[in-house]
Amino acid sequence: MIDDVAAVPPVINRIATRAAEIGFDASCDPRTGSMLRTLAANRPGGRLLELGTGPGVSTAWLLDGMDSTATLTSVELETPLVEIAREFLGDDHRLTLINADGSDALRDLATSQFDLLFADTWPGKYWDLEEALALVAPGGLYVIDDMLPQPNWPAGHGEKVDALLENLRNRSDFVITPMNWASGLVIAARR
Ligand SMILES: C[S@@+](CC[C@H](N)C(=O)[O-])C[C@H]1O[C@@H](n2cnc3c(N)ncnc32)[C@H](O)[C@@H]1O
Repeated sequence: MIDDVAAVPPVINRIATRAAEIGFDASCDPRTGSMLRTLAANRPGGRLLELGTGPGVSTAWLLDGMDSTATLTSVELETPLVEIAREFLGDDHRLTLINADGSDALRDLATSQFDLLFADTWPGKYWDLEEALALVAPGGLYVIDDMLPQPNWPAGHGEKVDALLENLRNRSDFVITPMNWASGLVIAARR
């Protein structure tokens, strides 16, 4: 198959097993992870930000693509999930895990710039979008997934997705490609 994912980092399965033990099943699809790894590898020395660490599956994919000088800040609200990410990834000196609300983190990071922002939670995607996009450096990427309809979407979520896509499509400061890939990705580059 053309969309097979090769060389899945072994730590991903260990994180997923641990996450399942606490009933968490919302980690990113392997194809999304593979895309994130590729985009991360495209930024030697890159400054990366992730909103919504979860137990660290997407974090592990990003780290697998990053070179030794790149850095990743990842923000997660739920302490038990941060603890799983810390257990499996906390020894990686390139990673800073922040246990906080994403909106608060966006405010705290307001003077920072990032080369890649993966927004995988509510803040930075369905609210505080402008605050998140403002952190993307010129030439940097803003990446989101879960844009294709999912069986677990709450009522009314489809309208939020449509509004987000409409916003991104109509911007002059970002060039976007929506992709029918994995759960539905959007890759947006700041002009
Ligand atoms: C789709 S999951 C992230 C999955 C993760 N990226 C992975 O691949 O394992 C969304 C995450 O956002 C977190 N979350 C929800 N509200 C949040 C908020 N206000 N600030 C930060 N994180 C939040 C949830 O606890 C959940 O872990």
